Amino acid sequence: MAALRVASTCLRQSAARSIHQSLSVRGLATAKSPKNLFESLDTFTDRHIGPDDNETEFMLSKLGFDSMESFLAATVPQNIRIAGSTVSNVSIPALSETELHASAKRLGRKNEQFKSFIGMGYHNAVVPPVILRNVFENPAWYTPYTPYQPEIAQGRLESLVNFQTMIMSLTSMHISNASLLDEATAAAEAMVMAYVQSNQKKKTFFVDKAVLPQTISVLKTRAKGFGINICVGDVADALKFDALRADLAGVLIQYPDVNGLITDYSDFTKQVHEAGALVIVATDLLALTLLKPPGEWGADVVLGNSARFGVPAGYGGPHGAFFAVTEKLKRKMPGRLIGRSKDTMGNPAYRLALQTREQHIRREKATSNICTSQALLANMAAMYAVYHGPIGLERIAKKVHFLTQILKSAVERLGFRVINASSYFDTLTIDVSKHCANAEVMHAAAALQGLNLRRVDKNTVGVTLDESVGQEDLLSLIRAFYVAASQPEPDVADLPIPTEPAFPHQLARESEFLSHPVFNKHHSETEMLRYIFHLASKDLGLVHAMIPLGSCTMKLNSTSSMIPLTWPEFGSIHPFAPHEQVEGYRKIIKELEDDLCKITGFHACSVQPNSGAAGEYAGLTVIRAYHESRGEGHRDVCLIPLSAHGTNPASAVMAGLKVVPVKTHSDGNLDLGDLKAKAEKHKDNLAVFMITYPSTFGVFEDGITDACKIIHDCGGQVYLDGANLNAQVGLTNPAVCGGDVCHLNLHKTFAIPHGGGGPGVGPICVAEHLAPFLPSHPLVKTGGDAAIDAVSAAPFGSASILLISWAYIKMLGGNGLSESTNIALLNANYMAHRLAGHYSLRFKNKNGRVAHELLIDLAEFDKAAGLKVTDFAKRVQDYGFHPPTCSWPISTCMLIEPTESETLEEIDRFCDAMIQIRKEAEDIITGKQPKDNNLLKNAPHPLSLMVTSDKEWNRPYSREEAAYPVPWLREKKFWPTVSRIDDAYGDLNLICDCPTVEELAS
Ligand SMILES: Cc1ncc(COP(=O)(O)O)c(C=O)c1O
Repeated sequence: MAALRVASTCLRQSAARSIHQSLSVRGLATAKSPKNLFESLDTFTDRHIGPDDNETEFMLSKLGFDSMESFLAATVPQNIRIAGSTVSNVSIPALSETELHASAKRLGRKNEQFKSFIGMGYHNAVVPPVILRNVFENPAWYTPYTPYQPEIAQGRLESLVNFQTMIMSLTSMHISNASLLDEATAAAEAMVMAYVQSNQKKKTFFVDKAVLPQTISVLKTRAKGFGINICVGDVADALKFDALRADLAGVLIQYPDVNGLITDYSDFTKQVHEAGALVIVATDLLALTLLKPPGEWGADVVLGNSARFGVPAGYGGPHGAFFAVTEKLKRKMPGRLIGRSKDTMGNPAYRLALQTREQHIRREKATSNICTSQALLANMAAMYAVYHGPIGLERIAKKVHFLTQILKSAVERLGFRVINASSYFDTLTIDVSKHCANAEVMHAAAALQGLNLRRVDKNTVGVTLDESVGQEDLLSLIRAFYVAASQPEPDVADLPIPTEPAFPHQLARESEFLSHPVFNKHHSETEMLRYIFHLASKDLGLVHAMIPLGSCTMKLNSTSSMIPLTWPEFGSIHPFAPHEQVEGYRKIIKELEDDLCKITGFHACSVQPNSGAAGEYAGLTVIRAYHESRGEGHRDVCLIPLSAHGTNPASAVMAGLKVVPVKTHSDGNLDLGDLKAKAEKHKDNLAVFMITYPSTFGVFEDGITDACKIIHDCGGQVYLDGANLNAQVGLTNPAVCGGDVCHLNLHKTFAIPHGGGGPGVGPICVAEHLAPFLPSHPLVKTGGDAAIDAVSAAPFGSASILLISWAYIKMLGGNGLSESTNIALLNANYMAHRLAGHYSLRFKNKNGRVAHELLIDLAEFDKAAGLKVTDFAKRVQDYGFHPPTCSWPISTCMLIEPTESETLEEIDRFCDAMIQIRKEAEDIITGKQPKDNNLLKNAPHPLSLMVTSDKEWNRPYSREEAAYPVPWLREKKFWPTVSRIDDAYGDLNLICDCPTVEELAS
């Protein structure tokens, strides 16, 4: 040991000597000598944080500070600072990357990998390796943001159109959106649509009792806010009683239902329409390759989960839900919709369509708050359909269906009764009472084979087959039934081989599907690989450059935190697997919840909401339940500053609250006088005040604690939108600020990649008095003693990606988390300093400091030369960057957030680009370039434009000025693939599916 100690000291000294000899190389100047030979060198903080110590010192000095602490003192109000020990390596110890992986492996082994035949909307998907490796595990696909800048997002836009086309084709509906959060919340969106369609006059929504139980639970939660009455029963009763019929807004049926039964609903649908209500159908995509699609028998809305198309179960998610409607409902459809339009050169191009439906615009008039959805998972499902094509999908469906028939023959031979024998696709519901004292005997027999079945009731079990089932699995299943029946080893040799479908012939699909060229040409792996890479090459992600989108926190999504995600120990687990099989997951979730409580200062946490907006809705619903529990259910006023994100008022309305806006001062601060006046005016009915902190104007306001006190004094609660938590971690927290509940965007602050528009996770953390009301789940115990119903389909929401945030927190440890915040603030302030004098910074605090983002106002350019925010944004694309957040929260502004992960070099590169664009704008203002034909108005400039003839070029600037305005672009050019896209044309000529053979030929 002594020798080792000596060796360790020598190594330290010689390392220190050689390190300080090469100060000129970035990072080496501050390389720390290891304390001993065995110290981990793969520490994460240095990898996550962009600037090194020298760069940090440099930026501080540029801002006039001699220490980080003096900078922080000028930036964050003193009265909300927390002790450094609150979030430190003592409260959250740091693990190296290697240690983290060892810990994840150890916990993964604690998840028992039983084969689940539970069904209920979740299957064992077979992820084609070419999609697993090149989409799911590929940062070019998982790091981009929502495609708000379509010229640099044509790849995933095309893929999302493939998704929409796939859904439209399989369901036979007119139009589909580009995914929703999960099947249950999609059903809730459909219910609200039905209510809105009746002009909010009809308030009864009938749900068939054979709809998935988690869907029913989420519907109950959502119905409350709108005052909708949910009736759960036999759907045939929906039209029996006149009073019910007269008030009926819609019905929800499951096709095939939770028990596997397939019913012909065509007559029923006509009757529901005669009653003036909508028919909403939850369905299964694979089944629809064989079954008559709901669009052909009159459904108004068709929805479901696309996960069995190649997305791992992941203990409940994330998965892409789908949502398709008839033509007449298209403008009421929630969620993002991708449409085809054209660029300025007349080339076809995709972009987000009908965006005026979004809550950003509609705010408290919105009836849906959906923002982040499930783009990455929708892309995976679409790629799965592209890879297999219609023939491959039908083959998979037939395999599943015929294996299910063989299973049925086997269990019936033993005398078990299959309850849905008359009609099924992949699910059998089996009465086991003939041989088993109760269903537990059957479950025990299945467990002996390493299998999970669905728990139905004391005499009945359910079995759902999927693509992954092979001969051994089927034999194990059959064996389990033989064991339960105390029969010898099964002889399956003479079981009949099915040839015909096991559902009524009138329900068989006759129409073709997925005939579009894209689903019929990429079936070899070579072709598929090239298609995936071809699309990826059109999209700008974090793999290319900084994405400085304000309020979005596009930081490093580290490879080390992503790796465990696709291990089968985590990927293969069914969300309703028995408690004792998921010890690993439970431990990780508990540790994450505990760490999030330490970070926020709150008492309890629920990870069930699967987006930030879903978190808002859950938090507000918890607050409502709290008021009700105190006999104050009448409190229904929600105060929201005008600067709030559009999801805030939309979520408030969904929770049944009345929105009252609060003013902000011209310096960006909340108008405390107005807040006080409104709080007092609504004192008797005040439920909650929603506030984002630091504000969406990019400053820490001094008055936050005063604001919270005003609300509490008037009997209200404070909801803190945690989208900007990246400015708080380790320095302050929502509890100290005075909040009662907050949501966190794990896909921002806690490093879950944005996936090109989702997945996200929006856990809520709450103070002790709100903990009893955290959301429950009908199948797995979650939440408090007085829990509200579920807010998501799965008990722990998008459980598998919780691993990413868990790993992020564990690897940074408390010190690294706090340091990240310091650097996020420093990077933003340095950027504000560099851009000062070129652009007008809209808001700063009394010391001249911004928080973790900055708002620059471009109004002067519009006045002087007609240049809009969009013109600047499109020109930023020419410089190889993703533009900042545009026209929000102020229409004339850009909101810029660099995050802690960007190096000084990258920040300088971005500032250089912005300063050069400013010069280009000056040339337009001074008349050197015409107002209607210039570098900004014509931006972006795609490669195809560079090769046009001189005559066609016809611009008062050179190609070089257009494409290479700064020298480093010669090395680092990212080409937009189309020129500026015409939004209005696309909305007027709405086309939301892939080109057909005929269109491609013309
Ligand atoms: C301030 C703020 N609140 C809420 C949200 C909604 O989060 P999500 O998109 O995850 O639903 C956002 C999203 O950008 C946001 O910026």
